[in-house]
Amino acid sequence: MHSLCDVIRLGTAAPALALALCLWGAATPSFAQESPAKPPLSVFRPGEIWPDNHGRPINAHGGGILRHQGVFYWYGEHKTAGEAGNTAQVGVHAYSSKDLYNWEDEGVALAVAPDPASEITAGCILERPKVLFNPRTGKFVMWFHLEIKSKGYDCARSGVAVADRPAGPFRYLGSLRPNAGVWPDDLSPDQRRSLNDREKTELAKYNFTGGPADPLPFPGNLVCRRDFAQGQMARDMTLFLDDDGQAYHIYASEENGTLQVSQLEADYLKPRGRYCRILIGGFNEAPAMFKTEGKYYLLTSGTTGWQPNACRSFSAPAIFGPWTSLGNPCRGTEEQNKNTFESQPACVLPAPGRDGQFIFMADRWRSHNAIDGLYVWLPLRFDNGLPVLEWKQSWSLDVFNTRVADAGK
Ligand code: GAL
Repeated sequence: MHSLCDVIRLGTAAPALALALCLWGAATPSFAQESPAKPPLSVFRPGEIWPDNHGRPINAHGGGILRHQGVFYWYGEHKTAGEAGNTAQVGVHAYSSKDLYNWEDEGVALAVAPDPASEITAGCILERPKVLFNPRTGKFVMWFHLEIKSKGYDCARSGVAVADRPAGPFRYLGSLRPNAGVWPDDLSPDQRRSLNDREKTELAKYNFTGGPADPLPFPGNLVCRRDFAQGQMARDMTLFLDDDGQAYHIYASEENGTLQVSQLEADYLKPRGRYCRILIGGFNEAPAMFKTEGKYYLLTSGTTGWQPNACRSFSAPAIFGPWTSLGNPCRGTEEQNKNTFESQPACVLPAPGRDGQFIFMADRWRSHNAIDGLYVWLPLRFDNGLPVLEWKQSWSLDVFNTRVADAGK
C-alpha cells in the first residue's frame, strides 16, 4: 500500500488536496508528536503549544474566527518548517470548536493549487484569511492577503474564495487590487485627479520599504492617486461585519502608510465602490476591528515585519471615521508593552454570551521556522472607555463574568 506521498510521487492522481495533505504530514511541527487522548482543555495558555483533537499543535496563523450555528471555526495560515514555511505550501487550515478551548481539525479549507500558473500555487504568500457567512447567498466567503509567487510583497492583492460549508473546501475565485477606478470618500473633488509631473517627481524620491519612509513625511494622497487606475494596494487585512449586515474589507494600503476601509458588495465577493482612507501616514498593519455600544474599535501594530512591536488602539463613531487614537492597550511590563506580549494582532472576537467583552487573538511569529509560531489569546476589557490587555499565564472565559464592561464611556 502506498502512502499519499507515494501516490503523488508515482504520478497518479495528485489533486490539490492530496498534495496539501502530503505536505501537511511532512510538516509536522518540530516540537510535537501525536500524543494519546488527553482530558478536554478548560483554559487558554497564551504563548504555549495549543494541541488540537489529535494532539497536534493547531496550525492556523494570522487567523480569524467565524461563529456559525453555535460552532466556532478558526481559519488560519498553515505554516510549514523553515523560512519557506512563511510562504503558503499547504493553504488555509480550519478547525472547529464549541467552547473555544478544544479544537477539532477540519483539515485544509483552501488548498494551494498544484498548477504552477495558478495565483495560489504553492510558494505564493497567502496571509490573514478571514471568513464571513453570507446569509443572502448561503455561501461562506474567504478573503486573504495574496502575493503572487516569487514577487515578494509587491503585488499587494486580496484573494477571494467561496464554499458551501464552513470548513470548505473553498473554491478560489481570483484576486484583485481593491477599488480600481474609484476615488475614496475622503478626497475632495479637486483632489480627484491623476498625478501631475511635479507630484510624480515628488513621489519618485521615496523608497518605500513597507515601513515609515523616514526622513520624508508620508506623501499625503499621492500613493492613493497613483494607484487609482490599477486599484489600491492591499496587504495585511481583516473583514468586519457590521450590525446592519454591511461587510467591510480593511487593509493596509498605500505602501502600508494608510489603512483603507472598503465596503463589500451584498454578496461579499468584491468591493462595492465606496471606501475611505483612515489613519493616513500612520503605518498600521495587522488590523483587527470590533464594535460595542455603537462605537467602532481598531487594534493594529506598527510595521516591523515578523518582529513584534507596540500595539495601537483607536475608536471611531462611524466606520469611516474620524478615528481617534486610544494609545497602547497593553498594561504589562515595559517590555510587554513594547512588544504586545511578543505578538501581533490577528483578530478580536466577541466573547460568547458576554456583550461588550472580547478576546484578543494574536500571533507570536517564528519566522526562521514558521511552523513553530504560537498564539496569544488574552481577554480584552475596557477601563474608562479604553481597551485594555493584560498578560495572563492561563485564563478561562470565566474572567468575563467578573468584569463589568464599561466600553463606550
Ligand atoms: C507582518 C505582517 C504579516 C506578514 C509579515 C511579513 O508585518 O503582519 O502578516 O506579512 O509582516 O514580514
